[in-house]
Amino acid sequence: MKKNYILYLATIILSINTIVFGQTRKVRTVKELDENWKFQKGDFENAYHVDFNDSKWENVTVPHDWAIYGPFDKEIDIQRVAIEQNGEKIPTEKTGRTGALPHIGTAWYRNKFSIPEFTNDKKVILLFEGAMSEPQVYLNGKKVGEWAYGYSYFYFDITDFVNAGENTLAVKLHNEPFASRWYPGAGLYRKVSVIVKNKESINQWGTFITTPFISKDLAKINIKTKTTGENVSLVTTIFDAKGNEINSNTSTTKFVNEFDQNIKVDNPKLWSPESPYLYKAVSKLFVGDELKDEVTTRFGIRDIKYDAQNGFSLNGKVTKFKGVCLHHDLGPLGTAVNRAALKRQLLILKDMGANAVRSAHNMPSLEQLELCDEMGFLFLAESFDEWKKPKVKNGYNRFFDDYAEKDIVNLVHATRNHPSIVMWSAGNEVPDQWGDEGIKRAKWIQEIFHREDPTRPVTVGMDQVKAVMESGFGALLDVPGLNYRVHLYEDAFKKFPQGFILGSETASTVSSRGVYKFPVEKASMKTYDDFQSSSYDLEYCSWSNLPDDDFVLQDDKPWVIGEFVWTGFDYLGEPTPYDEMWPSRSSYFGISDLAGLPKDRFYLYRSRWNTKDETLHILPHWNWEGREGETTPVFVYTNYDSAELFINGKSQGIQKKHNETRQNRYRLMWMDVKYEPGTIKVIAFDNEGKPVSEKEIKTAGKPYEIVLNPDRKTIKADGKDLSYVEVSVVDKNGIPCPTATNQLKFKVSGKGKYRAACNGDATSLELFHLPTMKLFSGKLVVLVQSTKEVGEMELIVSGKGLKPASIKFKTKFK
Ligand code: GAL
Repeated sequence: MKKNYILYLATIILSINTIVFGQTRKVRTVKELDENWKFQKGDFENAYHVDFNDSKWENVTVPHDWAIYGPFDKEIDIQRVAIEQNGEKIPTEKTGRTGALPHIGTAWYRNKFSIPEFTNDKKVILLFEGAMSEPQVYLNGKKVGEWAYGYSYFYFDITDFVNAGENTLAVKLHNEPFASRWYPGAGLYRKVSVIVKNKESINQWGTFITTPFISKDLAKINIKTKTTGENVSLVTTIFDAKGNEINSNTSTTKFVNEFDQNIKVDNPKLWSPESPYLYKAVSKLFVGDELKDEVTTRFGIRDIKYDAQNGFSLNGKVTKFKGVCLHHDLGPLGTAVNRAALKRQLLILKDMGANAVRSAHNMPSLEQLELCDEMGFLFLAESFDEWKKPKVKNGYNRFFDDYAEKDIVNLVHATRNHPSIVMWSAGNEVPDQWGDEGIKRAKWIQEIFHREDPTRPVTVGMDQVKAVMESGFGALLDVPGLNYRVHLYEDAFKKFPQGFILGSETASTVSSRGVYKFPVEKASMKTYDDFQSSSYDLEYCSWSNLPDDDFVLQDDKPWVIGEFVWTGFDYLGEPTPYDEMWPSRSSYFGISDLAGLPKDRFYLYRSRWNTKDETLHILPHWNWEGREGETTPVFVYTNYDSAELFINGKSQGIQKKHNETRQNRYRLMWMDVKYEPGTIKVIAFDNEGKPVSEKEIKTAGKPYEIVLNPDRKTIKADGKDLSYVEVSVVDKNGIPCPTATNQLKFKVSGKGKYRAACNGDATSLELFHLPTMKLFSGKLVVLVQSTKEVGEMELIVSGKGLKPASIKFKTKFK
């Protein structure tokens, strides 16, 4: 890849006031259509009519996921299939593959809105940031357009359909069965907005900013702005993070419909995961002296480079991807996008030391990209799980010919200004890896990405490694991404011309939080009667591997540029290795569970990735009534090299990381410990053998009292913000009870409401939105949500035979 200097903007469009003839007029307004929606599942022939009677329909807010309220039902997505990409040859009955939630079928949304600012000299855009799926959009009884892929951002110019008074928007959505390999969600699950601007204005996603030159002393910022209207001039001004004006450029020359400006930034502050510095560009469009449009865009200045010598460098520093793959659902919220939920995920990942996210296997939400810009994450933005050859009968293969180019163009245009995005992914394990046509498609798609954005490379997550080594498919990509297949890395590196390999998808180790199985041994596709996987982190799938296998490659082969672990969090659907066993309905792959609670594996990655903070984590828990005297291995995940283990004060010896097995390199393991209740303690040593830190866990007695631990005690009074409250139980002495399964009840009063709960148990059929749930391995999480009123809210958690707990929150405007 040639050297890229890039500066990106995330377009934030604001309402801008200007004085025209003594009156205040807005040159651009953005109205988010979040309230007053009517929703009904089912097909209604006339629901697009203005006077259709929707008074009996449900009132909902958007973003909305119609399927997350359940109930879970195995019949919803029962399939008799052989999952080819998992290497299966014989069809078997699968359940829960798409989450067993009622996402299939047709539904309608209706919304009435007015735009008093609308006059004949205005232009109106209707923007969808995602609609699951196959949206048909009607305004005031007329069809304005349609789309297909549920993950795409798309918009329509509705100027000819709107009026200043009441407008009736109707959206029909339809989800086919056999259309996804995971829970796709259902409905208007991302934002819908109406943008009103002047006829002379900046085009939707019309700004593209790159930095063709960066040095310590200055950066050259190139800003291309597509506009509509004659005799317009453009003034673009750059501001630093504190709002100080830096430099400005006025331009009257358009190249066809595009301005092309170059602005200097002295002593640029570079964007990076460690220091996510963001600038702002304000673009003002004038006709004569009259302001016609104004768009504010956030951006960062950073330099990315991929080459055979160093792999990936960010701002001149060799940087390895310490990444995770994330599906788009937010566990108990389903797919309805929520900023607080996304931010919490990223905070958890930051603490683990992760520096990168891959949006598997589709376009990310714009909220997630904004947060990654602000919080400092490198982003691999993916597009498709399928091209023309199907993985599932009704997948993207149905739309590929008509939509692939449009979908890529919209992905790039809507997101190219985010500094976090450092690579595009054109696909994941597409069956088109086989055959001539597939290679042609790969080239075609990569060239569309290059045409739309010459600054970032393109990858594909490839699992058919031998085939793509032979066919040239892998060689033509900018970045060869390997999914699993650790045994083929060396061959692929030798064969491919790029000089480096990316672990585009790694590990797929399976585990259930707080569940441990004996004997402790490595196993592929291991299943147990309780449909849980062992948290000793030694179980994987027939196609996958353990975290340590990837660590070895990254440590021993400088040409491996990092990894994206499958997955950062558990997700709804794909309950491997239990996809033939009901009621499993969500994944076991997560480093953290579906509730966002860290599993043991979290600390294994943390011990390696978080180089600032200490990690000293002991597993398993120490409540093994009935296992007295039996072998109960103890593992310690730590950044320290060695440690000594004590059971009730008796030393079990010192373990030191060594090279005998891959696990020994990264984990401290005492394999022969005999269980006896009491205290288990570990003392860690520094490189000189001096004790530096210690940790202990104790056998707990009976559950006695509920304990609440919120992530935030003050939240925004915007009707959307959330606090996540970790709920656990302790015994009389305050020791956490790691196996508790008590049924708890939740009550919220004051200026807030109960939103959902989740315990991370992949086999639970309890519904997230009902205010009761069982603890799983002693824990669960309750989500409370603000209203639009400022004040106080209280959560009370109770359970039979337990001392209840309560907590107060404040809700504020800012
Ligand atoms: C990969 C695939 C992912 C997921 C994963 C489970 O092959 O890309 O979507 O299915 O396997 O291990």
